[in-house]
Amino acid sequence: MNKSGYNSNSQNLIIKIDALELCYGNIAAVRSCSFSLKKHECLAMIGANGAGKTTLLKGLAGIKNPRKGKVFFKGQNITQTPPHVRSSMGITLVPEGRGIFARLTVKENLLLGGYAKKMSKLELKQNIEKQLNVFPQLKEKMLQLAGTLSGGEQQMLSIARALIGKPELLLLDEPSMGLAPIVTEQIFKVIASIKEEGVSIIIVEQNAALALETADMAIIIESGEITRRAKASELLEDDSVQKAYLGV
Ligand SMILES: Nc1ncnc2c1ncn2[C@@H]1O[C@H](COP(=O)(O)OP(=O)(O)O)[C@@H](O)[C@H]1O
Ligand SMILES: [Mg+2]
Repeated sequence: MNKSGYNSNSQNLIIKIDALELCYGNIAAVRSCSFSLKKHECLAMIGANGAGKTTLLKGLAGIKNPRKGKVFFKGQNITQTPPHVRSSMGITLVPEGRGIFARLTVKENLLLGGYAKKMSKLELKQNIEKQLNVFPQLKEKMLQLAGTLSGGEQQMLSIARALIGKPELLLLDEPSMGLAPIVTEQIFKVIASIKEEGVSIIIVEQNAALALETADMAIIIESGEITRRAKASELLEDDSVQKAYLGV
């Protein structure tokens, strides 16, 4: 372990990025970003609007190609690996705004969750059943168009769909955005149980306190650069972090 609590032994790492730079045109939205995350751990990414959090998640999912730097997944260089291949390797993004198919039914959306991974019909059915037990609200709405669900139900559908593909690394972009506190609480309970099952998670969340309580490690990103890496518990207690991000 080094000072920031990171184990540099790459065998244990689920993901590692090295001096990553992600641009829109000539503008670098993410600059010289480096971090790593151990298998089975949860990393919270904290930062103001426009800091580059979504862009960084897109870089991990392969939706955004880097101009510089490298991405490693379980020690393998995936910098040039396209998003659908990363998805089949076990990296799944639950995007900001959920990314569900509004004009497909709940059931059809869930079936798509198994698309990237090769799995038998039986396995797919079992995975869907498992998620319906986690999110019983969805069970009664299987034949309803996804676009007619409430915001909370859409977020549940989006997470359920991601989990059906059995990800090893789940990337969650603002899962509580626009949700009532009670729904947010349910979503975070599910996130904690996903972590218990051994899935590695990177979570971007406006509710920084909630994210830091859930996560093991945390990074702070400001104007496209990582300005702090620490244990999540350490940042929760930190005066400057409390003032800037926790509204204390
Ligand atoms: N499609 C895009 N085209 C041009 N600039 C973008 C695009 N998406 C995001 N940006 C810019 O990149 C920066 C980082 O955005 P983003 O990653 O969405 O931040 P965050 O998720 O932290 O709010 C912002 O300055 C934003 O305006
Ligand atoms: Mg964002």
